[in-house]
Amino acid sequence: MNPLDQVAFLEMRNITKTFPGVRALDGVSFDLQKGELHALVGENGAGKSTLMKILGGVYPYPEYGGEILIEGQVQRFGSVNDAAQAGIAVIYQELSLVKEMSVGENIFLGREPRTLGVIRWEELYRRARQLLDDLHLAIDPHTPIHNLGIGQQQLIEIAKALSHNARILVLDEPTAALTGAEVETLFGIIHKLRARGVGMVYISHKLEEVFRICNRLTVLRDGQTVGTRPTSELTEAQVIAQMVGREVGDIFPAVHHAQGDVVFEAKNVCVNDPNVPGKSLVKNVSFAVRRGEVLGIAGLMGAGRSDLLMAIFGAHAGRFSGEIRIAGHAARIAGPADAIGLGIGFVTEDRKRFGLVLDQTVLNNMTLASLKRISGRFITNVDAEAAACESAAKELHVKARSVFAIAGTLSGGNQQKVVLAKWLLTKPRVLFLDEPTRGIDVGAKQEIYSEINRLAKSGIAIVLVSSELPEILGLSDRVLVLHEGRVTGEFTRAEATPEKVMACATGRALAA
Ligand SMILES: Nc1ncnc2c1ncn2[C@@H]1O[C@H](COP(=O)(O)OP(=O)(O)OP(=O)(O)O)[C@@H](O)[C@H]1O
Ligand SMILES: [Mg+2]
Repeated sequence: MNPLDQVAFLEMRNITKTFPGVRALDGVSFDLQKGELHALVGENGAGKSTLMKILGGVYPYPEYGGEILIEGQVQRFGSVNDAAQAGIAVIYQELSLVKEMSVGENIFLGREPRTLGVIRWEELYRRARQLLDDLHLAIDPHTPIHNLGIGQQQLIEIAKALSHNARILVLDEPTAALTGAEVETLFGIIHKLRARGVGMVYISHKLEEVFRICNRLTVLRDGQTVGTRPTSELTEAQVIAQMVGREVGDIFPAVHHAQGDVVFEAKNVCVNDPNVPGKSLVKNVSFAVRRGEVLGIAGLMGAGRSDLLMAIFGAHAGRFSGEIRIAGHAARIAGPADAIGLGIGFVTEDRKRFGLVLDQTVLNNMTLASLKRISGRFITNVDAEAAACESAAKELHVKARSVFAIAGTLSGGNQQKVVLAKWLLTKPRVLFLDEPTRGIDVGAKQEIYSEINRLAKSGIAIVLVSSELPEILGLSDRVLVLHEGRVTGEFTRAEATPEKVMACATGRALAA
């Protein structure tokens, strides 16, 4: 036997990391074999991303305690580049592509093929094309990133990591924004890489996936390792109990929403495609929502669900046509400020782009949309603001040192809660929620579900877009299904079944 086979390919020993006031990692040990897929799970804020940032050189030696070994050799990465040189590629939870640049430029950013300093564009795009082909991605490498959906951007990040010939690949929540088909593409890629001997760390809140593809699983809780076991020896329930330290009961609270008058109506909404003249992303969609009602909008990625909500919210000015009525009155929405003024709140799917200012405090982020309401006309009432935010943060169990913590320092799931809190502070009449639980752990999901029910009970009309069918079915009073920009089905809570909704979402119901 090769002596090297007895040492773990990668070993992280007794890792500690503190931030001002927070002990993020407290003696964590973790190892990875060649060709292994090792899941790293835990609640929001457990320390998963931090551990992988240490591996990726984001927190260089000696900004952490403990040791990193590859094939038995101690590694001390001074930078992200050092880690990349050692064959480590990390795909972070918050995507880091440059929106204004093309797919190809992003993949080779800083490593462009050059002759005498001049970039060889043809070569760059040819190699980008190759990488994309390898992943079976039908995306033109010349496409600017901002024209791609968040799911496609995720796959571009993976192409970029592969261009480095990584031996260790870390995927932090890789499927949070992917459609079913994209997930299968990703799993295909993962299998291929595993066969090549690449070791992979897979961070996910979707335990079903973890059990499907991972060999071993490590649970972190509050910065400590709870345990590492082969997935075949564990059940989902055991893992959840280890993650949260308690049993999680029925995740969808049973409720009956008392519905009032129609408060929001959209008629014949059309949204044009910015890239293809004459093409529509949303075609003649009409719907109404009552006070206290939760309207779920189901559909596959690219069905036009987000575009529909964004357009109504005034974010697609110039590409939108249709009529909006709020509380029976025709409304003119020329931009998001008008929408907010009319009482519409919007938790967007892409929190980095539309939801959060990462280098500002939690407090500033929460009050961004509601400054006028909390403060007087011109003077900001700091105490009132802080008090309102503190109670919102407490209600949603936001894990942060205080409301003065910088938003970018919160874990991914906690950032999402801040976005939700921000809109709740605007006291909206109508609340649009687009993938509100993306990247959120089971315990926190349950809290957000109760919050949605509480908001509906208080009379807010809610429009919920989610790719998780159980979420749509568990929360909605009525379900609207979109397929390629059109409404292909509508069901009451009692009528909606996963089969019926999926048939409409895939367009199969049309043929019948
Ligand atoms: N740059 C930072 N400054 C201060 N605190 C930080 C920073 N980065 C992370 N933390 C804190 O460290 C802890 C662990 O965060 P981390 O992002 O590793 O969690 P996570 O397990 O990845 O959670 P999630 O599932 O929500 O992504 C959290 O309490 C977080 O607020
Ligand atoms: Mg994380």
